[in-house]
Amino acid sequence: MRQPSQRSLNIPPFIVMDVLEKAQKMEREGRSVIHMEIGEPDFETPEVVRQAAIEAIEMGDTRYTHSLGLIDLREAISEHYELRYGVKVDPGRIIVTPGTSPALLLIFAALLEAGGEVLMNDPHYACYPNFVSFLGGQPVYSPVFARNGYFPDLDDMAGRIGAHTAAVLINSPGNPTGAVLDEDILGAIAGMGVPVVSDEIYHGLVYGTKEHSILEFTEEAFVLNGFSKLYAMTGWRLGYVIAPERFVRPMQKMQQNFFISAAAFVQRAGIAALRHTSTEVQEMVRTYGRRRKLLLSGLREIGLPVPADPQGAFYVLVDARHLDSDSYRLAFDILERVGVAVTPGIDFGPSAEGHLRFSYANSSENLSEGIRRLSEYIREVTHDDI
Ligand SMILES: Cc1ncc(COP(=O)(O)O)c(C=O)c1O
Repeated sequence: MRQPSQRSLNIPPFIVMDVLEKAQKMEREGRSVIHMEIGEPDFETPEVVRQAAIEAIEMGDTRYTHSLGLIDLREAISEHYELRYGVKVDPGRIIVTPGTSPALLLIFAALLEAGGEVLMNDPHYACYPNFVSFLGGQPVYSPVFARNGYFPDLDDMAGRIGAHTAAVLINSPGNPTGAVLDEDILGAIAGMGVPVVSDEIYHGLVYGTKEHSILEFTEEAFVLNGFSKLYAMTGWRLGYVIAPERFVRPMQKMQQNFFISAAAFVQRAGIAALRHTSTEVQEMVRTYGRRRKLLLSGLREIGLPVPADPQGAFYVLVDARHLDSDSYRLAFDILERVGVAVTPGIDFGPSAEGHLRFSYANSSENLSEGIRRLSEYIREVTHDDI
């Protein structure tokens, strides 16, 4: 019997989805679960965005679009980058994709020859190395540490750049660390002499600091961005790439073959998100800010150390080595015993082993209940050990 390809067998799971799916199974069996695993806003997509999609459907906007995306949306994205970061982006350099994840595939497929290396920090977003390896490339890790606020070590990074380096991949505000890179670091990374892939999907979600786009420092960069997080639009599947001009046509051809286009009415909704949601977005960010404080103090109170306060996104990375050095086992044990779903650090690379990632994209009531259950768990396991 024909077996699945090695490539499909070798790709690791996105562990957070395994946690979510197990949690959902428990819920179907009648257990209550507090979700702090998934990076998904609990807010409704803003009304004005939903209405824009409904109107677009009613107007018959239900067909394929240009493979680069609707020009109106690309112009709105270009306007957004100019207003926010003062950078000029030709809409012809923007490729709209069905989510940021397909954009990662297009970028690495356009950048990587066999064996090509992508330098990234560790911990990092779980799927990055899997995209790179799937496409025949090689992820190279430069570790970051809580004692430096999870900021990149520029010397270490420079030392890992060589003839095979195809790109440096950064993500600020970062998942899972919440680190927000400053201008000096971004400027230095932009000057390393290799293309920078900058995942800016958590832009806008910052607390008391300001984020910068890589395009303020270099044009030799690929910007990845999307609507899932800031506009609470995970299920709409809408993202985009801003690419150096010579890469646009190759990426467009892949889009034509693999995805054709993002949904037309979803693209219309994206225009409304960029232009008409500033009040709703401000309110969501204020709410995340309050939850962030609640979660940070709650975790510390129950003896779960947060080695560096996150400045952006909606995650807290906790050092849980005193409970179990195997974060996968620990996360599933917590889920089974007290019904709290959290993501094992190992999903984010070897440097995050022994850690757990908590998402505060959940209500304050649920976060408080999650903390209460966790304190119960800690009491139980500490007692078991005696
Ligand atoms: C850093 C990062 N990049 C990309 C994505 C994928 O987002 P999308 O929903 O746009 O595919 C995520 C989702 O969690 C993420 O955390």
